[in-house]
Amino acid sequence: MRIVFTGGSGKAGKHAIPYLLSQGHQVLNLDLVPLDNPDVYTLKTDLTDSGQVFNAFTSHFNMSEYSLPHPPPIPDAVVHFAAYARNLLVPDSEMFASNVKQTYNVIEAACKLGIKKVIIASSETVYGVCFTQGESDYHSFPLEEDTYDCDPEDSYATSKLCGERIARSFERRYRGKTEIYAFRIGNVIEPHEYAINFPKYLIDPPSRKRNAWSYIDARDLGKLCHCAFQTNGLGFQVFNATNNTITLREKTKDFLARECPNVKITRELEDYEAPLTNVKARKLLKFEEEHNWRDYVKDQ
Ligand SMILES: NC(=O)c1ccc[n+]([C@@H]2O[C@H](COP(=O)([O-])OP(=O)(O)OC[C@H]3O[C@@H](n4cnc5c(N)ncnc54)[C@H](O)[C@@H]3O)[C@@H](O)[C@H]2O)c1
Repeated sequence: MRIVFTGGSGKAGKHAIPYLLSQGHQVLNLDLVPLDNPDVYTLKTDLTDSGQVFNAFTSHFNMSEYSLPHPPPIPDAVVHFAAYARNLLVPDSEMFASNVKQTYNVIEAACKLGIKKVIIASSETVYGVCFTQGESDYHSFPLEEDTYDCDPEDSYATSKLCGERIARSFERRYRGKTEIYAFRIGNVIEPHEYAINFPKYLIDPPSRKRNAWSYIDARDLGKLCHCAFQTNGLGFQVFNATNNTITLREKTKDFLARECPNVKITRELEDYEAPLTNVKARKLLKFEEEHNWRDYVKDQ
């Protein structure tokens, strides 16, 4: 498939894109900065500018496409990962305006151009604990996409929740023509980070509460995008984008009962299920993880 990938030069994109290339997809990266990958062209595009977004979505993917007999077709799918990826990179008001505008511009252009599949990066933060002020508890476990009342109090998470609503309203108008899946991405882990980060997670479980003791391998995030390209007929959906298991050696039910005794558990949990559960993605997108942290972290 021809995939336009926004924000591909960032932490997640630089690992997700090679996975997509390995599956035979062609990728054009839209970003403000280049991606260090000789197989992918970066078109410098400011996604807060709607004109640039429409134009970039109808662009050649690289110089070699000038040798085609006709201009290339519109992309088959868009993956929108570009954003200010947290608070405190720029003032909150600037982050919020930029994130919401980028997501609006991307979704509007994709729908109006007839691009069939759009994936947008939402965030674990919408569950309201990640960037909370002081201590706060989740309402219930597991964190599930379609039943949890997302009530974040910070501007970044709110910008991501707005993105989900933009996606939902455009999908309604363009139903049957464009499908939009929002990925509530968990804490992204790059391959080199297992050895550095996970030993700390294991000895200090409270430090991972804000990430709901869950993570997503950046390469598996690419696989999740691929699974979403292969799946059709779901309209607008929200998926937690995480790996299967909790970032601890203890069973999930036992750990949560001890660490969060006042938070209700709403269903039977798999033994080591990630509290930010990916069961919906496993079921509807047929996602099977390839990078379980246990394969990379030695016993203490
Ligand atoms: N990293 C995480 O743990 C995590 C967790 C949850 C959600 N997310 C979301 O996943 C996505 C990818 O995260 P990441 O960690 O790779 O972020 P990142 O900051 O590493 O990369 C974001 C990319 O977006 C680009 N960008 C920003 N503004 C732009 C604009 N106006 N026009 C074009 N490009 C622009 C940046 O240049 C950068 O390359 C983001 O939407 C982020 O909010 C990330």
